[in-house]
Amino acid sequence: MAIPPRILLGVSGGIAAYKAPEMVRRWRERGAEVRCAMTDNARRFVSPLALEVVTGHRVYGEEYLKPQGSGVEEHIELTEWADRLVLAPATANLLALLARGLAPNFLTTLALAWDGPVVVAPAMHPRMWNHPATQENVALLRARGVTLVGPVVGPLASGEIGMGRMADPLAIVGAGLEMSGLEVRAGVGPADDKSSLVGRRVLVSAGPTREPLDPVRFLGNRSSGKMGFALAAEAAKRGAIVDLVSGPVSLEEPPGVRRTRVETALEMRTAMLDRVVDAEVVFMTAAVADYRPLRVASEKLKKETGPPTVELVENPDILVELSKAPGRRLIVGFAAETEDVLRHGQTKLERKGCDLLVVNDVSRADIGFDSDDNEVTVLAKGAPPVVISRRPKRELAAALLDLVESDLVERDVVERELSTETESEVGA
Ligand code: CTP
Repeated sequence: MAIPPRILLGVSGGIAAYKAPEMVRRWRERGAEVRCAMTDNARRFVSPLALEVVTGHRVYGEEYLKPQGSGVEEHIELTEWADRLVLAPATANLLALLARGLAPNFLTTLALAWDGPVVVAPAMHPRMWNHPATQENVALLRARGVTLVGPVVGPLASGEIGMGRMADPLAIVGAGLEMSGLEVRAGVGPADDKSSLVGRRVLVSAGPTREPLDPVRFLGNRSSGKMGFALAAEAAKRGAIVDLVSGPVSLEEPPGVRRTRVETALEMRTAMLDRVVDAEVVFMTAAVADYRPLRVASEKLKKETGPPTVELVENPDILVELSKAPGRRLIVGFAAETEDVLRHGQTKLERKGCDLLVVNDVSRADIGFDSDDNEVTVLAKGAPPVVISRRPKRELAAALLDLVESDLVERDVVERELSTETESEVGA
């Protein structure tokens, strides 16, 4: 049997510290031995007792800087015991101390005495993360071979949003366990090339629909399909099995994506409902026409008959129907608004019954429809709005998928926990 890895977890003072016991539990489930060291600030967010219980060992802090009588310094002993060091969460301050080799407390003293592989999972306010000083420190650490996991875009403790949320605990757990493969991977962090979307079925709708008036004319809209195509491409890149249902657009299909072409809202509805049963994630980015002409002329409408009166009937709401489809999946709707964007978005989220609603302000000429850039606000039931600031649609797709992935992993964890609890109740 392989020798169980020995992981030394260093916890610094960020709100994400409360996730430390969960990470320890996951490592131990996989056979690792874990010990924890924490800063004084970390103790304000997670109790040392919780970490002692899950590690089955005392937790190291400032008191261990004083010699304990054995003559061996604890930080040296610990570095000799462990074979990998994981720092999670790592505050901006901890990154700065690590980068400069400063050691004002037990955790940083330990890190300075450490010469093995290091995984760092930063967590901080986006402005602190984006600060040139932090970015310089991160570059220094990377250059020294440190593996960085995250941060990711998401809602922060402050209610704000942006890049700065600690990576998903499971990604950090994975990085901690796979450190031995690091040399082989030539310095590429294991968590970076692992996605929770691997093998998952993702269904994306994109582009406009065309509602015919006669054989040559239609009612349509200005949707370019770029957002949906970018999401399909990014999901496929992350290992998902992607089905793309698209209205008429002039875009190349992304590699590895199965594309179905449709014209009308009714065709799109059929294609989406046929595929939703197997899907685990649905992105409904299509700009579906709300109405279609009641009558479609079989011959071209002629001018001599005068201006036609077009009677419209409402199209079915595909998103509402997808949200009601049997089975469990994450459904993401998209909304284009021109005024009072957030209020209309909230009402729409409730009306459509989807899990997330990505809202964008189409009154702005610099983003939206034809533009390569977009800026969106992501709404979810019972959670603060998440703003993803203006960026190319390709990058926006990656940020949206990060959000979806953290949501998926959270759901999986909750589900696993619920099933474990039920099992133990049955057993008791
Ligand atoms: N949608 C849909 N079927 C429709 C209309 C819209 O599935 N018949 C979906 C869109 O793909 C999008 C979401 O619903 O994901 C919101 O679309 P939007 O056009 O903003 O909303 P509407 O319901 O059309 O509301 P309104 O036009 O009044 O803003």
